[in-house]
Amino acid sequence: MIRTRVIATAASVPEQVITNADLAKIVDTSDEWITQRTGIRERHISAGENTSVLVINVAKQLLERAAVKAEDIDLIIVASVTQDYGTPSLACMIQKEIGAVNAVAFDVVAACSGFMFALSTADKFIKSGAYGNALVIGGETLSKIVDWTDRATCVLFGDGAGGAYVEKSEEAGMEWENIGSAGEKYEILTEGYTNCANAFNDNPASVDPLWYVNMNGREVFKFATKKVTGSLKKLMEEKHLKHEDVKYFIPHQANIRIVEVIAKKLGIPFEKFYMNIDRLGNTSSASIPMALNELNEQGLLERGDKIVLAGFGGGMTWGTMLIVW
Ligand code: ACO
Repeated sequence: MIRTRVIATAASVPEQVITNADLAKIVDTSDEWITQRTGIRERHISAGENTSVLVINVAKQLLERAAVKAEDIDLIIVASVTQDYGTPSLACMIQKEIGAVNAVAFDVVAACSGFMFALSTADKFIKSGAYGNALVIGGETLSKIVDWTDRATCVLFGDGAGGAYVEKSEEAGMEWENIGSAGEKYEILTEGYTNCANAFNDNPASVDPLWYVNMNGREVFKFATKKVTGSLKKLMEEKHLKHEDVKYFIPHQANIRIVEVIAKKLGIPFEKFYMNIDRLGNTSSASIPMALNELNEQGLLERGDKIVLAGFGGGMTWGTMLIVW
């Protein structure tokens, strides 16, 4: 039976670090408020580099770490809501930059669940036998779509990219998944809206305020705690897992309090959830692969370990996956 295994991971962030104290200089906020409500202390913010710079860095590292040649890459899938262009996709920009001339390249949009949707897509292509490997990357420069005068949202996000090189295998790999969408709730979290203005209507061609991240924080909180808890419960029941069987849970890093609620509801010790939100903020589709890469780089993952990835985000969407390392 064909399986999909993660072979290598990588991440890239802009060098510039913005602390809560830095934010307090531009909006009416404080380190205390941000830390207590979100768990975030600092985040990396682009000094001008666009999302393509970050995802290309990740792709280059993945090739090196997996020791594969660019021309042997079959598939490049990037998850992002902050692409450089409407077209080309970030995946096609990576293809050009690394010379992956034989790859099929495209982007997926599933906000903070994006990496999970991209990984799931790669897994299906590989399991179908159509392709043998993939670069799967989540990358964002959320700083360009945040309203820096809105203290309720601008303190939450950071820029970054992370990814994995995956390939077909006969050994255990991606073992279970549950991805889903609840489009009826899409208005609780939006960004990037553009007006339909053209030569034959009166709509102003200006950037609409809905271009920026808009969210109903409490509704997002409720959605995340309910869906992720339900999805993790389904996984544990269907795979007959106890939390002791799982080495790490890697949740999307949106807010430490969301994860605390999920852990409590499921009776899983909070320490089993890997968190780096204090240093990186919410990086949307990049948060899960960046966390996975940190664990991998620190040598904390051993062959055979069971790891659970759990994303949730705009759309609204969610995605949970069990990986055997
Ligand atoms: N600094 C100081 N005060 C602030 C700030 C800030 N940065 N932001 C909001 N406030 C104030 C508000 O104005 C409000 O003041 P008021 O009581 O005088 O009106 C007060 O703090 C409480 O505001 P709430 O929005 O009710 O604060 P809440 O406790 O709900 O926390 C938060 C807001 C952190 C966004 C919370 O709702 C949350 O965690 N929601 C989950 C959404 C999330 O994490 N989104 C991330 C992106 S989405 C994703 O990744 C899927």
